[in-house]
Amino acid sequence: MTPVTIIIFGASGDLTQRKLIPSLFHLFIKRKTPRELFVVGFGATPYDDERFRTHLREALNQFAAYPFTEEEWALFAARLRYLQGRYTDLADFKRLGEMLRALEGEKGNRLYYLAIPPSLFSSVVDLLGLTNQLVEDGGWRRVIIEKPFGTDLQSARLLNQQLHRTLKESQIYRIDHYLGKETVQNILFLRFANTIFEPLWNRNYIASVQITVAETVGVEHRGRYYDGVGVLRDMFQNHLLQLLTLVAMEPPASFNAEALRNEKIKVLSAIPTMSEEEIVRYTVRAQYRGYRQEKDVAPDSNTPTYAALRLFVNNWRWQGVPFYLRSGKRLAQKQTRIVIRFKEPPLSMFPLPPGKRMNPNLLVLSIQPDEGIHLRFEVKAPDTLAETRSVNMEFDYARAFGPSAVPEAYERLLLDAIQGDASLFTRADESEMAWSLLEPILHTWEQKEKPALAFYEPGSEGPVEAERLLEQDGEVWL
Ligand SMILES: NC(=O)c1ccc[n+]([C@@H]2O[C@H](COP(=O)([O-])OP(=O)(O)OC[C@H]3O[C@@H](n4cnc5c(N)ncnc54)[C@H](OP(=O)(O)O)[C@@H]3O)[C@@H](O)[C@H]2O)c1
Repeated sequence: MTPVTIIIFGASGDLTQRKLIPSLFHLFIKRKTPRELFVVGFGATPYDDERFRTHLREALNQFAAYPFTEEEWALFAARLRYLQGRYTDLADFKRLGEMLRALEGEKGNRLYYLAIPPSLFSSVVDLLGLTNQLVEDGGWRRVIIEKPFGTDLQSARLLNQQLHRTLKESQIYRIDHYLGKETVQNILFLRFANTIFEPLWNRNYIASVQITVAETVGVEHRGRYYDGVGVLRDMFQNHLLQLLTLVAMEPPASFNAEALRNEKIKVLSAIPTMSEEEIVRYTVRAQYRGYRQEKDVAPDSNTPTYAALRLFVNNWRWQGVPFYLRSGKRLAQKQTRIVIRFKEPPLSMFPLPPGKRMNPNLLVLSIQPDEGIHLRFEVKAPDTLAETRSVNMEFDYARAFGPSAVPEAYERLLLDAIQGDASLFTRADESEMAWSLLEPILHTWEQKEKPALAFYEPGSEGPVEAERLLEQDGEVWL
């Protein structure tokens, strides 16, 4: 493995201590990173190397999800450095460049991680460019950009233009940590490493698809950020649309970044833009009661904390199959799942009680917290003439592979970026296309204030309006 230096901007922050350092340390002790690894923290916080190490050691005590020895920590700690500097100061970036050259010798591979507020992304990349840190003369240079990537189509386009002034698209890794989850990647394996699902994976057999990302937490300490953003920007532009593309995409010709991302783009471009009338009828925006009293939230805020949408993918495979997407905060349970509802048998030869229909088959891809796959089908109830009963065939990741087999999403993504595999990162056109899909909805919600903002009780299943959205199609949330 070739040596690599990872430079983290925002190294004093929450993401670094909760996710990045625990993931890097775990990769290091599993020997998945090169032994010649350096992790350089950069930020305004006045740490030196020792205080940075102490800060990260405390973070590991709190956030490492695995046991480690003092010897392992000492080996890792020796790879950690810190440089105090400002994100807008050319002189500080020159010092960073000098420090990295001194650490690496002549040629080094560098992964820059922008774990800072998005308003600083372009300035940091510009200064890296101005100080010649992004030139690939011998070693590679890659930059991971955190989310959110823009707040609408215009700002995402502008950010892409700013990044492309200095970086080639192949050097940019836009991260969506959802794609680092094993169960999300498993959607592709389920579909394309087996032959039994794919023949059924279309409008002839599938009646509808539901994608739910439910959280129990509220805005917590992120009130100021969240109140200007809302659920559509925070969850749909990235996580939910990414899950949709993985369910709906055609089989790529190969398992490489460009082939996968080309197929995802085709799905997004097949989703028709909704008219204002459709937005009023087929979208729900809602807020949990008590949101306006949260810290740093405006007392008259109309920011939605819950949304539900009905979308279609207009291609041969999916024409007419509704995709129902919903996500919200302060809901009854934390759960991310995709439910594929198959069509009912065209004719039942079994006598059913009056008004009862045969239960449809369901394939449930459970992303979190219970990571697995469940297939619901009908069997004959014992000791009856012809009664059917629904049963589940279950696959549970932890039971099959052991409780610690599923790594933290950031581990996968950091390793992929080190190895130059961008499959699980979002390409510029993908990010812009996702924004252009949501743009009319955001406009109708925010400018025209339609449909009316609904409210729901914290700890509930969400607003009643979301139930009605499906009732129009004779469906229920599953
Ligand atoms: N935390 C998460 O779980 C999470 C999840 C998804 C995405 N993200 C994204 O990851 C990035 C970092 O998130 P984070 O939660 O770690 O952020 P954070 O803790 O608020 O900030 C990271 C660091 O950036 C510097 N900073 C913060 N605000 C600044 C400002 N206004 N001006 C200049 N410097 C500032 C601070 O470092 P210094 O003062 O030392 O320079 C701070 O420690 C953000 O883009 C965020 O949207 C985070």
